[in-house]
Amino acid sequence: MDLNALVRARIPDARVDVPDRWIGIDAVDLADADALVCLLMDRVDGSVLARAPKLKVIANCAVGLDNVDVAAATFAGVAVTNTPDVLTEATAELTIALMFAAARRLPEAERLVRGGAWEGWRLDQMLGVQLSGKTLGIVGYGRIGRAVGAKARALGMRVVYTEDPSGAGGDATQPVAMVPPTTPTPSPVPAMRVTLDQLLATADVISLHCPLTRATKNLVDAARLAAMKPTAILVNTARGACVDLDALVDALTAGRLFAAALDVFPDEPRIEPRLLACPRAVLAPHIGSATTEARTQMAKLCADAVVSVLTGSRPPNMVNEVWIG
Ligand code: DGY
Repeated sequence: MDLNALVRARIPDARVDVPDRWIGIDAVDLADADALVCLLMDRVDGSVLARAPKLKVIANCAVGLDNVDVAAATFAGVAVTNTPDVLTEATAELTIALMFAAARRLPEAERLVRGGAWEGWRLDQMLGVQLSGKTLGIVGYGRIGRAVGAKARALGMRVVYTEDPSGAGGDATQPVAMVPPTTPTPSPVPAMRVTLDQLLATADVISLHCPLTRATKNLVDAARLAAMKPTAILVNTARGACVDLDALVDALTAGRLFAAALDVFPDEPRIEPRLLACPRAVLAPHIGSATTEARTQMAKLCADAVVSVLTGSRPPNMVNEVWIG
């Protein structure tokens, strides 16, 4: 995943600066930069663009684009790319892992064993939820949502889904309405389209795969949590800000939800202390796409985007319309 080598293999005289740890976009001198490869923690807005007068391309190393002001980049004539498809399976697999971890209380069970408090087998110990035969509700039925649906069907679950409230109907974090998928979306597995209200009332597991937009910020709020079954499990591998965390902690603490499994948080890497204290919250450090396979392909797509634009061709996964030449 050597970005330097990937770019210089095709543009030998390129100067590629790769900090050996993440230092944040504010600390990076962009005055001479032709290309920027950024991570989802980097907020790339008008003020960043103003510091980068020569910039031609922003390659965001994520499928989600909520950290990039695409309109401002377009206005500045800067191409923006992301990394769809290559992380779909990895993120869907983590979603399934989180579903099981929450349903079978795996972190709690592990803490019991490691803490030396396990006194032996008991008929009623660590009782969880069987997923087979249950209903999975998918919010945002794009590439990742569909991949999760296919896996859940294979596990014997019923699948219902709803398009995300922004109307884009897309997968985690990108405004798919303006971003056509680069490969065909996998054909949908048998699943029933329902309204969000129907989904909340009927699903045993609710999994978020919608982009973070103005319409999906705090999508899961106190009222929607109250509309879920008290036995429901909420899984979020999309974006933290899609869930009102205070309301979720209240619901978990009051036992109004069986469990929640979260890979994403509103203010990463800060985690709300009250959430840390919830035994029924399964927490992961934003690792949806963290497989060697996916991350290698994501880095490669970023390098491809940079090389394409700097050599005058339209990159794959370009999400805006600017002149390349
Ligand atoms: C994304 O790509 O948007 C994920 O959150 C990180 O891979």
